[in-house]
Amino acid sequence: MKISIVGTGYVGLVTGACLASRGHQVSCVDIDQAKIDNLKRGEIPIFEPGLNEVVKEGINRGALTFTTSAKDSVANAQVVFLAVGTPPAEDGSADLKYVFQAVEDISPHLPNECVVVSKSTVPVGTNRKISEKFKLESEKTVFVASNPEFLREGKAIDDFMNPDRIVLGVDEPKAGLILKEVYKDFDCPIVETSIESAEMIKYASNAFLATKISFINEIANICEGVDANVKDVSKGMGLDPRIGEAFLSAGIGYGGSCFPKDVRALDQIAGLNGYDFKLLKSVIQVNNDQRWRFYKKIEGTLNPPHFPASPAGRQGGAGGGCRSFEGKKIAVLGLAFKAGTDDIRESIGIDFALKLIEDGSQVSVYDPQAMDNAREVLDGVEFCNSIEEAVDGSDAIVITTEWQEFRDFDFSKIADRLKQKNIFDGRNLSDPDCMQSLGIKYFGVGL
Ligand code: UDX
Repeated sequence: MKISIVGTGYVGLVTGACLASRGHQVSCVDIDQAKIDNLKRGEIPIFEPGLNEVVKEGINRGALTFTTSAKDSVANAQVVFLAVGTPPAEDGSADLKYVFQAVEDISPHLPNECVVVSKSTVPVGTNRKISEKFKLESEKTVFVASNPEFLREGKAIDDFMNPDRIVLGVDEPKAGLILKEVYKDFDCPIVETSIESAEMIKYASNAFLATKISFINEIANICEGVDANVKDVSKGMGLDPRIGEAFLSAGIGYGGSCFPKDVRALDQIAGLNGYDFKLLKSVIQVNNDQRWRFYKKIEGTLNPPHFPASPAGRQGGAGGGCRSFEGKKIAVLGLAFKAGTDDIRESIGIDFALKLIEDGSQVSVYDPQAMDNAREVLDGVEFCNSIEEAVDGSDAIVITTEWQEFRDFDFSKIADRLKQKNIFDGRNLSDPDCMQSLGIKYFGVGL
């Protein structure tokens, strides 16, 4: 089928490349000329395992093309996927300006009975508004549908090509048939439902995953008080198929461009519809607090007990720049918001580096993939090329991202090069007993 993808970010680029690899003829359109020029040359602006290969293969077969012309991209398209950003507005709601701009751009050029599908995460009811817009502005019959994406950064290709389910929100049987044709070679359950239900499935799924994380993080905080081990607790819980082991890894909380945005948007949606989503508000608060609870552990360890704790500041946590790390060197390992990506949006490692500088610390940083992105936002830190370089002479090592490289690192190689032997492991990657045998004081989350 002839498919157009509007927006070439994570979702748009992965969707376009993967559908091209499944035999479709795909045209991706973006307003960013430089980005499109690079993509035409097979240059990918993001680190995403396997994406390079899939894009280049599609380009070489002529099945994947790039343009800045909405008209050219949607001409003769049977399906147009909207995959533009829906960033959070000031009040936490999803900012839909890019979605509606995309609708304006494509509206005059759509073929009759084309299906316009929202891949972007949009508030419940958005697609209904888009449908009304087309009815007003286009003489043609345009079907509107919701097909939310569930890919995870760092696993995007695999998640797209092997989805747990495909959700199709349609209110025209014909639109459903066309979209099933798009996904005919995908072997997974297809959930065909109303447009609103499909939009809600996306938000509810992310909100539930975020809830699991905040739940296990609170259990971890209690474990610390009762001398229980949250990794064992999580294992014992997760063996119950009703609970499941996934997303039960305690740590310093979730980041990224999705969970923080989507949970705030869902809370907004609830409020606008007269419901106070108390549980979700707690999930958000727990997540905001979790990183600063850990930060205070670092402060408390490196400073004498009488040292005044830093006043509340950023996001309600430790903040206010009380210079509690004056004269200390702290090594932050991990700047990407999670392993497997170079994305630093809502990254806790970035948050910590900024806060440590504010509190007077000398800060060294290392991340396997996110250093270039981090250079755009961090000043006054030492950018290092390895774990060894970052931790040399440090008073504390802080692990903030669950990179396998950090999990596998042999800290015995550097134990004698530490000024103070402290490791604050925000992702519970290391073995406390092993650290103790090296004379390194180990601080995890819930251990
Ligand atoms: C998420 C959803 O998983 C995906 O389905 C949706 O399409 C987009 O949002 P993503 O944001 O890429 O994907 O990352 P994910 O792997 O879900 O992790 C989100 C955050 O939760 C990361 O900061 C990660 O470190 C954290 N996390 C994850 C935990 O703290 N504990 C866990 O057990 C799992």
